[in-house]
Amino acid sequence: MIDTMKIAIQQVNKTRVSEIDFANLAFGKVYTDHMFMADYREGTWKNFRIVPYGYMPVSPATPAIHYGQSIFEGMKAYASADGNEALVFRPMDNWKRMNISAERMCMPQIPEELFMESLNTLIDLDRAWVPNVEGSSLYIRPFMFSADEYIGIRPSLDFTFMIILSPVGPYYATPVKVKIETHYTRAVQGGTGYAKAGGNYGGAIYPAKLAQDKGYHQLLWTDGKNHEYIEESGTMNVMFVIDDVLVTPALSDSILAGITRQSVLDLARHWGMKTEERKVSVKELVSALEQGRVQEAFGAGTAATIAHIELIGHDGKDYKLPPVSERKFSPRAFQELENVKHGKSPDLFGWIHRI
Ligand code: COI
Repeated sequence: MIDTMKIAIQQVNKTRVSEIDFANLAFGKVYTDHMFMADYREGTWKNFRIVPYGYMPVSPATPAIHYGQSIFEGMKAYASADGNEALVFRPMDNWKRMNISAERMCMPQIPEELFMESLNTLIDLDRAWVPNVEGSSLYIRPFMFSADEYIGIRPSLDFTFMIILSPVGPYYATPVKVKIETHYTRAVQGGTGYAKAGGNYGGAIYPAKLAQDKGYHQLLWTDGKNHEYIEESGTMNVMFVIDDVLVTPALSDSILAGITRQSVLDLARHWGMKTEERKVSVKELVSALEQGRVQEAFGAGTAATIAHIELIGHDGKDYKLPPVSERKFSPRAFQELENVKHGKSPDLFGWIHRI
């Protein structure tokens, strides 16, 4: 349910945009002038507002803090070639996924009008913040959390939906080293792995830190039952090119249905490449690595788009992959995605939403 979608706008007195060094953006450190907020009360979304970006009052008893009743999305806007438009990549897919997460976490659905109108209005207002620098974009973070004041466990009644925006540079500056994780688990069958729930990410920090202490950047997560099958890489989906075939773990309830993952599969199929979405066992991967048959490995996600993997560690052994300069598919896929996102290549699949 939604009240009439009228957004009240409280603009900043003075924009901060001229203080930002757009040529040297890190990931997720600066936020634009404004943010969007909406309240869910008595079963209805209401009180749509855009306010200056800043701290906000939250009850110390909210289940969002105590029990992780919080979900989010990540998407990006790019400057069009002439710099006049903000091009948002596949926002309707994020909207659909957010509602899948909402259902799993016992939260209300977000109507399409609420998601899209808030996005359009906020980006229009903060248009000057969309970076027009190669490799940079405006990261869009929609999120929803319980706004109850209640520390008992039950489905919450009140919620807040927000969008904040952050101009960002590349997520990883260099290709990454990953370690196959066979002790800790990101997600299990029947769990919340397919939802973009905050707790999935919080629980992954410690195992990733242990790997980082050993010189790796991230983990290759395996299934929570026997650690036999590859699932994801860090906060991304993972894809391999083995014997010229693009192989990626099939979606399941312990794998997030990544929009970049789907876009890479769509491009590969469009280019006539053979693709396989199926179980990928650690055994298969390690033996293909030993035989030099893994031509490419990469993470696919919104933040990094494509994060080339240069090395995979398993059982105390490190397997080096061919240098990125020798890879045929992933650099081409990355470049084509960049071109489509900036409106330089035709939008064959209807991915771009113009604001
Ligand atoms: C993504 O790459 O899509 C992510 O979700 C990363 C984010 C947690 C920073």
